[in-house]
Amino acid sequence: MTLLAGVIGDPIAHSRSPRLHGHWLRRYGIDGHYVPLHVRADDLEATLALLPRLGFRGINVTIPHKEAVFALADETTARARAVGAANTLTFQEGRILADNTDGYGFTANLAQGAGHRDVRAPAFVLGAGGAARGVIAALLDEGAAHVTLTNRSADRAEALAALFGDRVTTVPWIDAAQALPGHGLLVNTTSLGMTGKPPLDLDLAGLDPSATVTDIVYTPLETPLLAAARARGHPVVDGLGMLLHQAVPGFHAWFGAEPRVDEALRAAVLA
Ligand SMILES: NC(=O)c1ccc[n+]([C@@H]2O[C@H](COP(=O)([O-])OP(=O)(O)OC[C@H]3O[C@@H](n4cnc5c(N)ncnc54)[C@H](OP(=O)(O)O)[C@@H]3O)[C@@H](O)[C@H]2O)c1
Repeated sequence: MTLLAGVIGDPIAHSRSPRLHGHWLRRYGIDGHYVPLHVRADDLEATLALLPRLGFRGINVTIPHKEAVFALADETTARARAVGAANTLTFQEGRILADNTDGYGFTANLAQGAGHRDVRAPAFVLGAGGAARGVIAALLDEGAAHVTLTNRSADRAEALAALFGDRVTTVPWIDAAQALPGHGLLVNTTSLGMTGKPPLDLDLAGLDPSATVTDIVYTPLETPLLAAARARGHPVVDGLGMLLHQAVPGFHAWFGAEPRVDEALRAAVLA
């Protein structure tokens, strides 16, 4: 039987997920297809009812449906509840199971690119948007002792920190550079540094020389932040691996193989 899965979003044409899953399907010789589906908000509920009846095993979910599918699911994982949104749905016996693998993708990428020590280091996180929530939840889940959070809009940083208790504290955006000492990991989760956006303007002089710097922005692969960190000798981890690793649990659930994230996959997705 040909196995079916896909990704829904609005827009969807930019999604790299079909290329990613397509590479794994070919590599593991699986009789399956992974298709991009343009789904508007008005059609979301009907689509979720129809796809399992058409034979889909599950789907990835991207902007703007991640919160809506979480609310429509029959079952949710703890890591989806920690974020209040889902990016991976599995259809099982008429039920929808919702997971959120973004935070897992982030820590798995960090562990592969730097090491497990970095995942548990005191972390300094820039940004308090949707991605930051998953990143912080995953870092704490992996045993990070403390997370310092800063965001341009202070109220968003405080609201996010409040969800996690006293392991997450905030500092004002303008004080970020002075607050860097003592952290073993620096994470950019803002959209600054993305192609078409201004760079993140942060003086890294106060950062411990051994601290790892990672960016979840991956267009360009080497953001100005990562270039500055590399020039100062910091270990750096780019954001593409987060996208690759977040896809692993879904592929495994729908197609039955535990896929590998490696250079061949990176090359296929970047091609
Ligand atoms: N690698 C991956 O797999 C992956 C996964 C998810 C997301 N991402 C990337 O991560 C980035 C953030 O995604 P998101 O979903 O969290 O977006 P979001 O919810 O819209 O949050 C955007 C964040 O960027 C900050 N920001 C935007 N413009 C800024 C500026 N000019 N100065 C200072 N801060 C600014 C926002 O601060 P305010 O609160 O002050 O507006 C907020 O913290 C995007 O570039 C996205 O492509 C990558």
